[in-house]
Amino acid sequence: MTEINSVTTLTQDGDVAIVTLNSPPVNALSANVRDGLFEGFKQAIASDAKAVVLICDGRTFIAGADITEFGGASKGASLFDVQNMMEGSPKPVIAAIHGTALGGGLEVALCAHYRVAVPSARLGLPEVNLGLLPGAGGTQRLPRIAGVEKALEMMTSGRHAPAKEALEMGLVDELAPEGQLKEAAVAFARKVVAENKPLVKVRDNNSKLEAAKGHPEIFENFRKANARKFRGFLAPEYNIRCIEAAVNSPSFDEGLNVERKLFMELMTGSQSAAQRYYFFAERQAQKIPDVPDDTPTRAINKVGILGAGTMGGGIAMNFANAGIPVTIVELKQDALDRGLATIRKNYERSRGAKPEETEKRMSLLTGSLDMDDFKDCDLVIEAVFERMDIKKDVFTKLDAICKPGAILATNTSALNIDEIASVTKRPEDVIGLHFFSPANVMKLLEVIRADHTAKDVIATSMKLAKKIGKIAVLAGVCPGFIGNRILAQRQREAQKLVFEGAMPWDVDRVLYDFGFPMGPFAMSDLAGLDIGWVKEKSKGETIRDVLCEMDRRGQKTGAGYYDYDENRNAKPSPVTEKIINDFIVKSGRNPRKVSDEEILERCIYPMINEGVKILEEGKAIRPSDIDVVWVNGYGWPVYRGGPMFYGDLVGGPAKVLEKMKAFQATMGDDFKPAALLEQLAAEGKKFADFKR
Ligand code: 3HC
Ligand code: NAI
Repeated sequence: MTEINSVTTLTQDGDVAIVTLNSPPVNALSANVRDGLFEGFKQAIASDAKAVVLICDGRTFIAGADITEFGGASKGASLFDVQNMMEGSPKPVIAAIHGTALGGGLEVALCAHYRVAVPSARLGLPEVNLGLLPGAGGTQRLPRIAGVEKALEMMTSGRHAPAKEALEMGLVDELAPEGQLKEAAVAFARKVVAENKPLVKVRDNNSKLEAAKGHPEIFENFRKANARKFRGFLAPEYNIRCIEAAVNSPSFDEGLNVERKLFMELMTGSQSAAQRYYFFAERQAQKIPDVPDDTPTRAINKVGILGAGTMGGGIAMNFANAGIPVTIVELKQDALDRGLATIRKNYERSRGAKPEETEKRMSLLTGSLDMDDFKDCDLVIEAVFERMDIKKDVFTKLDAICKPGAILATNTSALNIDEIASVTKRPEDVIGLHFFSPANVMKLLEVIRADHTAKDVIATSMKLAKKIGKIAVLAGVCPGFIGNRILAQRQREAQKLVFEGAMPWDVDRVLYDFGFPMGPFAMSDLAGLDIGWVKEKSKGETIRDVLCEMDRRGQKTGAGYYDYDENRNAKPSPVTEKIINDFIVKSGRNPRKVSDEEILERCIYPMINEGVKILEEGKAIRPSDIDVVWVNGYGWPVYRGGPMFYGDLVGGPAKVLEKMKAFQATMGDDFKPAALLEQLAAEGKKFADFKR
């Protein structure tokens, strides 16, 4: 065995040389890895071996470029040097793939002459999710090997295709038995040598491009079909242009030039910076300084859910999906039946639903009217009405019923979890698990740490979140926690803006153009304006009161802030406009013209300021956790990173402070800057610099 460098070895099995990479955690293409590969291949080619296999140790094949190196000065061998060495090898090169071959990793594999993979392997070009495009020839090679349509779909979604599918599309040449990749790859290499198979270079294979030549409509139709999904993002469009270049350029190298140019444009832009930041933010959020990764966890084999309403049903589905049995307890039989029927309907309606899958999941759910049935549950999540007296009553009962060591969780949106925990004799077992609606769909889970919550309860909750496919963020107890607390700032300003003369559709349009999926008024119409509105108590004091009194209760009644046609398309409403103007005049003011810039700044800056207060009070561990909450739970466009990243992007604490002060001077203390904002600005720091 020859040690090429600290991450690469060269061995020989008979007449097959084997270059092995071992650079945990994911064999990313760092300078060291590139050097090792370059030198390893050089020596393998110079040896007496007749073929070369590239294989990786650890959990995966190369998962891509090393994202941490982006933006720094490049060192050592370039990825192109490595690729040219492999592709130009006079001896067949075989990539042996397990785990994931992603981004630059797949681009390296595409410079091998053949690819062998185990069935569990996945292959993809996920650069688009980092606001990028494959910058090492992937945009030119994937359509050549998989065809234009597949390449468009894979590169704009970033999807990881399973090995079997990769085999069907020609991306993989042979599947190897699980656990026997090396043996299979070496055997494949021998076969290639014995049969004197030609050295296939993907770059020379133009046959799959031919079908798309002279058919620009393939690209136009693809753009149109995905316009909604791609809205606001640069990277999908740039990926498409590269595939167009693959089809239309006179040579591979000219296509490569287009790729290079567009890659550099994306790499130096703010969208990719935001998306790369976000990639690490999501992973960082899993790290809790005083709850290290090796903190013991409690086994969760059975879950109890109290309340089968909107939230309880959705929460239950998450566990059933993960194969964990759930007992759901309700007050009355009809509420229980309704809840279970809704779950069934949701399963039946979900895309690609198979009846046997629905049955399998439903069989994991047991309904009951008796809380005693929670006695063998390892975790109980309460999702009953949002009232402190009811929550306290429920937790007193849970404390009496549940076994020692069971985790008692509340899904409250805003109530004080310390107060809820105080009625139990085991506040250390009490935690907040704040799911978002619809709970079976939304990725975000705020895990709320109360004063006495035990560390292993936190560790268990964070790991469990991952198991049920959620992205968890730890928050402290405060009204609204991280997400809703910040949302309240935006809601307040949106309402105020309307009382000054901006119309609901103006506010919505500005926030939509910023990148949110919809604005607050369109959202209210969707949810129903009458949530929490009581007819008997309504005194026509708010715009909402008046709208509801007129039976304009949102989309469901065909009118709310907006008017809706039969297809639920929204139109600005003259009725609403008049109601608003009457309100303003009645208050003794005149409606004024509010600029789009003011709408955006008044909605966004107080959110950032509130984020700073949350950090100041220690209710979030780090600024990026706040961003993870807002991207996952509230539709903040990921290409703007999240409120705190965006704060840095527009000029950092100094700029946010300046804006808040200017608004405070004319509009009062809703814009009072957080003390920490003043401090960060005075120290000339960025939000990203903040550490506890
Ligand atoms: N560069 C640097 N670090 C990376 C990395 C990368 N490409 N991919 C993963 N890591 C790190 C993670 O930050 C994490 O670090 P931590 O333990 O310190 O938090 C660690 O590796 C493990 O990652 P995950 O927690 O995500 O592990 P999983 O097993 O859940 O997932 C994975 C593994 C599917 C490989 C996932 O990490 C992933 O999707 N990685 C990114 C893949 C990617 O986007 N590749 C393209 C890169 S861009 C590129 O190649 C440009 C080229 O075209 C020129
Ligand atoms: P819901 O009204 O749809 O459901 C509550 C259910 O709890 C009802 O079916 C009711 O019969 C049942 N219930 C009430 N008291 C009970 C008891 N003592 N024992 C058993 N069942 C009981 O309410 P929803 O929307 O599901 O909210 C539940 C909790 O989740 C609340 O705390 C709410 O603040 C929180 N939440 C709600 C979100 C939402 O968007 N709806 C989002 C996040 C959290």
